[in-house]
Amino acid sequence: MARRVEVSLGSRSYAVHIGNGLLGEIGTLLAPENIGGRCAIISDSTVAPIYGGSAQKGLRESGIDAEILTVPAGENSKSMAVASDLCERLLALGLDRSAFIVALGGGVIGDLAGFVAAIYYRGIPYVQVPTTVLAQVDSSVGGKTGVNARGGKNLIGAFHQPRLVVADTATLRTLPAREYNEGFAEIIKHGAIRDRALLDVLDSGDLPAIIARNVEIKAEIVAADEHETTGLRALLNFGHTIGHAIENAAGYGRFLHGEAISLGLTAACNLSMRLAGLSRAARDLVVAKLSAFQLPTQLGPEITTSAVMTALRRDKKFAGGEVRFVLVPELGTALLSADVTLRDIEHAVEELRSPAQSVS
Ligand SMILES: NC(=O)c1ccc[n+]([C@@H]2O[C@H](COP(=O)([O-])OP(=O)(O)OC[C@H]3O[C@@H](n4cnc5c(N)ncnc54)[C@H](O)[C@@H]3O)[C@@H](O)[C@H]2O)c1
Ligand SMILES: [Zn+2]
Repeated sequence: MARRVEVSLGSRSYAVHIGNGLLGEIGTLLAPENIGGRCAIISDSTVAPIYGGSAQKGLRESGIDAEILTVPAGENSKSMAVASDLCERLLALGLDRSAFIVALGGGVIGDLAGFVAAIYYRGIPYVQVPTTVLAQVDSSVGGKTGVNARGGKNLIGAFHQPRLVVADTATLRTLPAREYNEGFAEIIKHGAIRDRALLDVLDSGDLPAIIARNVEIKAEIVAADEHETTGLRALLNFGHTIGHAIENAAGYGRFLHGEAISLGLTAACNLSMRLAGLSRAARDLVVAKLSAFQLPTQLGPEITTSAVMTALRRDKKFAGGEVRFVLVPELGTALLSADVTLRDIEHAVEELRSPAQSVS
């Protein structure tokens, strides 16, 4: 049975459909949207050969003309140059403001194709068809689109909400194990900040139910703080301050995003124990759940603490020198704290070295 979660944003509201085998039904799901008769499916060189055909067929069956545009798989495609090239290719196809875009792939494609949709003809509609765990539970919902700059990730972009999200959980079966597992770091994050019970159903195997619960959590937060102005949406950064710093210090390719976030979550739980009263048992539960998905919770000597701290200070979140750190006082609740110092963070990074990770 397919599930449906609503993202409530007034006139920009949209539905997220989650289910096994939904890709072929994309045309039917789109029919009530009156979104137009022509689209371009933007995908990458790995995903397009596997799923491009079904998506195209599903759309054509509903009378929607769909061309597939492919970019090389990988984070490097999330660039202004590729976005600009895609715009030129859309123009060459003769697509105008009455057309729409389908983003078929992981978070890279979602961010890139969403950004192209935001700027093409000053903005045309788009549909997210996420094919990674990370994209299904996180990046396809919320309207953050963009590309990377030389100076850093995601520095050029726009808020542009999709008109529809179609998450086919069957597509996750072709993900390599590492890419599948990394998505669970974000799922465990959602459980830690919003829903303790989610942590108990991770091994149920009921992917549509797990993904749907995560989409509900993300949708609720986005609906309450669409443009990250009240601090609520910032709670989604739990584990990300230290996680991003480790990701950057390690250099591209060493850790997948979710792997670095797993380390960041471990450190943030340790800090939450020390500074916000999180229980030892709760912290251990999060670490055990991360480990169950083969995610790292211990940092090796090849990445130094000073390199992590240097990367952290460069983070745009620290622009004013003020640290706003997400802590979890108990599982299911998060808060934004201004009391976490760089010294505390440094200690937490250092603490990731020890196997037992005992918190002093
Ligand atoms: N917009 C947001 O709110 C938001 C949130 C989190 C992350 N992001 C962004 O998401 C990106 C990471 O997304 P990602 O982890 O999905 O990476 P990705 O899009 O690069 O996908 C990972 C790899 O898996 C391949 N792949 C995708 N689906 C597949 C499938 N079903 N079967 C086999 N292979 C498949 C891709 O080709 C790629 O090589 C980053 O750029 C990050 O900045 C955005
Ligand atoms: Zn993340």
